[in-house]
Amino acid sequence: MMKEIIQACDLVIFGTKGDLARKKLFPALYKLEKFKKIHPNTRIIGAGRANWTQEEYIKTVKESINNFLKEEINENIWNKFSLRLSFFNIDVYEETQFLKLKKILDQTQNISIYYCAVPPNTFNSIFTGLGKVNLNSLPSRIIIEKPLGVCLQTCKKINDQISKYFLEPQIFRIDHYLGKESILNLLSLRFANSLFFNNWSNKTIDHIQITVSEEVGIENRWNYFDGMGQTRDMVQNHLLQILTILAMNQPKNILPENIRNEKIKVLRALQTINLENINKKTVRGQYISGQINGIKVPGYLEEFGANPKSQTETFVSIKADIKNEQWFGVPFYLRTGKRLAHKYSEIVIVFKKMSINLFKEYYYDLSPNKLIIRLDPNENIKINFLKKSPGLSEIYKLKNDSIQLNSSIKTTNNQIDAYERLLLEVMKGVQSLFVCREEVEMAWKWIDPIIESWGKTNKNTLYLYKAGTWGPIKSDEIIINDGRYWNKFD
Ligand code: BG6
Repeated sequence: MMKEIIQACDLVIFGTKGDLARKKLFPALYKLEKFKKIHPNTRIIGAGRANWTQEEYIKTVKESINNFLKEEINENIWNKFSLRLSFFNIDVYEETQFLKLKKILDQTQNISIYYCAVPPNTFNSIFTGLGKVNLNSLPSRIIIEKPLGVCLQTCKKINDQISKYFLEPQIFRIDHYLGKESILNLLSLRFANSLFFNNWSNKTIDHIQITVSEEVGIENRWNYFDGMGQTRDMVQNHLLQILTILAMNQPKNILPENIRNEKIKVLRALQTINLENINKKTVRGQYISGQINGIKVPGYLEEFGANPKSQTETFVSIKADIKNEQWFGVPFYLRTGKRLAHKYSEIVIVFKKMSINLFKEYYYDLSPNKLIIRLDPNENIKINFLKKSPGLSEIYKLKNDSIQLNSSIKTTNNQIDAYERLLLEVMKGVQSLFVCREEVEMAWKWIDPIIESWGKTNKNTLYLYKAGTWGPIKSDEIIINDGRYWNKFD
């Protein structure tokens, strides 16, 4: 039985003035207050460099919640929430200042949780500062978030730095996709339903498509994004998480370590993409100006702060193969891009076609069944199938149809944001929804040769696409060459 107790915590948010804290963490914490999920004695300490008074700090937090909460703030809930808040002015490069922090924390009653909502180049000063004054001992917990490096080597460096002061069970590495309701539902779908469980391998599945299509561009993050590209920004983490959840074997039980071990096995089994197969297995693109929802948007190279010679990809599609018994011969086609026609994420499981067509005279080519899992927006699950065309005339005439397996569970006020769930899980001390060291390093190990190979092939392998389209046409080839098609957005 897993721990489900919400403990009293001192949650220290380093980077309390930053985007992540303002846009995601404070609204999420407020919602947890609303759902009565925070222990009465829990305190939230914003840490950053500012000479704010308590009043000024509380005002800033309220502004953030007002701006980024997708519902009206409720004054009663806010009043209760605001009592938990305090500000701590700290220069994290000054080790002595962590001693002052120590005096504020109530380590006898409350579990200290440190959220590093700061750029990764600040991580190490925080780890060291906490470690030097013994704020790192159990049961304290620490949260870090991507980018965890830009390659295996830099990722290992961060992991080495953190593990000097914290043990793996204390470290919560966030991939916010793991906190999404729809991603969690994949586990239930696969492992709670024999219908799917027994039909989840190369015996019945032809191929799997994973699409994460974004309308947004780089949102004024040129420096960050240009050093990353869509592959590091989205595939290394979010898309590979989806892939491993889809492809993992049934774990022994739902203990975090067993789930993670099964995911790691999938990452290990991914076939390497290198200079030999890079052009067959990947297509990358970059957006030029176009229109999204009728509004003209600039091209990537025209974004604020852009280097007009950048070769960074804003779109990528990859054919991934898993070398194990269960998935041999079943390609996983991944694609994701910025400034595409619509924001949506979807998984399409395409089953093998019927080997015998009894209805040949009426329907030449029996189309395969598809399980379509819409993750975002309006999550839902549907199955495409063939049925008898209704009517008296032709008794064996067929027709394509689909059946919806669930309706959207979201209602505006009770919509659960990934950060709400993840913060709650950290407060409970349960690590299932967080990424362990080996997982993140194995993901980089697969991504590195892809990026290195692009650097070695000639430059025209970066295909341009107009903002507001579905990416470079070339991306279709990756799947069409195998006699398959991307599922159409509807
Ligand atoms: C982030 C990336 O991790 O995920 C962003 O850095 C991206 O570039 C975002 O836009 C997408 O998240 P979501 O939840 O909107 O799909």
